[in-house]
Amino acid sequence: MTRSHLAGVVDLITADGLPGLPPCHPGELLRATGLSGTPSCPGPTAPRSFVAIGDRVLGAAEIARDSTGDVGSIRWLHAREEPAVVGELLDHAIARLTGCEVIEAFTSGGVGPVAAGLPTVRRTTEEALLARGFAAIPAGRYLFRSLPSAPMALPDPPRIEVTANARRHRLTIPRLAAATVSVLTPGHGMVHWIEVHPDHRGQGLGAQLLNACLRHLHRLGVRQVIGFLDDHNLTADDGHGRVGAHMICTRAGFVTGAQLATYSKLAGAGGG
Ligand SMILES: CC(C)(COP(=O)(O)OP(=O)(O)OC[C@H]1O[C@@H](n2cnc3c(N)ncnc32)[C@H](O)[C@@H]1OP(=O)(O)O)[C@@H](O)C(=O)NCCC(=O)NCCS
Repeated sequence: MTRSHLAGVVDLITADGLPGLPPCHPGELLRATGLSGTPSCPGPTAPRSFVAIGDRVLGAAEIARDSTGDVGSIRWLHAREEPAVVGELLDHAIARLTGCEVIEAFTSGGVGPVAAGLPTVRRTTEEALLARGFAAIPAGRYLFRSLPSAPMALPDPPRIEVTANARRHRLTIPRLAAATVSVLTPGHGMVHWIEVHPDHRGQGLGAQLLNACLRHLHRLGVRQVIGFLDDHNLTADDGHGRVGAHMICTRAGFVTGAQLATYSKLAGAGGG
């Protein structure tokens, strides 16, 4: 990718944005593709390729191979869900990854907060992947909620401690629970993780701490909050409390913005 493509690709990524997500910033794209000189996933033996179609950059994708050359990856693909462009990009990517035993798609390396997972609302891309022999693997859900402009009337839980490290803020109920949040861009924030000590779950601490996260982000000027929930196996709770996580997020006003999925295709799998 040349720097002259940058604005066009940033527009494509923003066009595929989800509710609650900030617009793509050129710096994010540069970091993700390694063009800024500080690649987010440095891999000395992992070549990166970039493909674009048309004078106006109608679509773009990033592909890579792992160090063995056996695993290819379509890290991200954006084409305003135009079927012809999506199809052409995918065919090009698959051809460039000839010789790989497996090709993964949307497993990691996305630009912006949705680092992995294709939102299944992007039906054209999903259908094009399935038509080319990729299998879908559920990868949880993307959540968001808006915060009011007025001060938030949420009860102050006792004993919350806040520490900040760069853009990340850690909120703790000492010895019982911890959460990490960050401001992504002015007005946009994210709840990265929340965890309650296993011996103290189901007593309301998770809900209290999540509300404290929202209030903290609100005080930092955040009005759109996002988060991810890897709860795609809710019926077989793995003991990590995903059912509880789903419950506290819903009660705190988060709504599902999209289900996410990753994709995988073995060499020789049908489609193309
Ligand atoms: C998610 C988590 C933070 C919730 O903390 P918590 O203190 O248990 O949450 P709360 O007590 O405030 O509320 C949880 C609610 O879900 C319910 N719940 C929790 N686990 C449940 C389960 N396995 N099945 C059904 N209900 C469950 C609780 O009973 C409670 O509902 P209630 O108020 O009607 O009784 C905690 O389970 C945890 O640390 N999980 C592991 C880390 C994790 O998965 N984090 C989420 C990252 S996506």
